[in-house]
Amino acid sequence: MEWNAELYDEQHGYVGAYGEALVQLVREEAERRGEEAGALRILDVGCGTGANLDALAEVGAVTGVDASPAMVERARRDHPGVEVVEADACALPFHDAFDVAFSNAVFHWIPDQVALLKSVAGALATGGLLVAEMGAHGNIARIEEGYAQALRKHSGDYAGRFCFPQEPAYRRLLGIAGFEVESMEAFDRPTPLAGGRDGLRLFAEQFFAKSLGLYRDEDRAAVLDDFERACEDELWDAGAGCWTADYRRLRFTARKVRAVRGAGGMGQLNVLGS
Ligand code: BEZ
Repeated sequence: MEWNAELYDEQHGYVGAYGEALVQLVREEAERRGEEAGALRILDVGCGTGANLDALAEVGAVTGVDASPAMVERARRDHPGVEVVEADACALPFHDAFDVAFSNAVFHWIPDQVALLKSVAGALATGGLLVAEMGAHGNIARIEEGYAQALRKHSGDYAGRFCFPQEPAYRRLLGIAGFEVESMEAFDRPTPLAGGRDGLRLFAEQFFAKSLGLYRDEDRAAVLDDFERACEDELWDAGAGCWTADYRRLRFTARKVRAVRGAGGMGQLNVLGS
């Protein structure tokens, strides 16, 4: 997906705001280690426009990494004191180089989870901590079902492309990549969308852009109308004048306890499917 950094910040900037609880877990790791300020080496995997870079930079020496050139450019512009590297999270150009890997709302975008976790583990020194949050099983279930209904009405077919895992399966996957899980919780986090009445359409235009792009303008508008109708009862809050996304999060910390050789593989399909 090609990211529009400006639009993302404008419409979906709330994603970064929800990173604070996760940054707190990084602070606690610094305290646990008794690190002097600045000594903890932190990698922000999928830093995007840099929503969490400043808070992380108060805890240690932070490096941001993102695969999108637009996001990297924006993060470098807004955070000139922070190193930001353009790289694929599944092929991070670091080896035993960090004490903490942090990631917020990124992992669910990545199809090859084994490659991702092995790559992150490779970037961490043994004993290093992964602190991450991603969509959990059931995340945006109403949104996806409403969008699938709307597409079916217009001869389309929704192919969900996100990885929203169950807790036990993700624990196993982390183990395969050499991590020991220290904490893991899945929880609902209903999240108001920006944009008032247009908020749900804007969400679809950003995150379902590929399938929407197959329609001519007038048909796309009809798909979006049907999408809104399908979600209205459960997700529209007339009192607040906003849509509420049915987010469900998986938040975890996992320590690298051993190095694992080799790239990722499709073995994850069995692990995640069980
Ligand atoms: C999420 O952060 O859970 C998410 C955001 C956009 C699309 C899908 C999931």
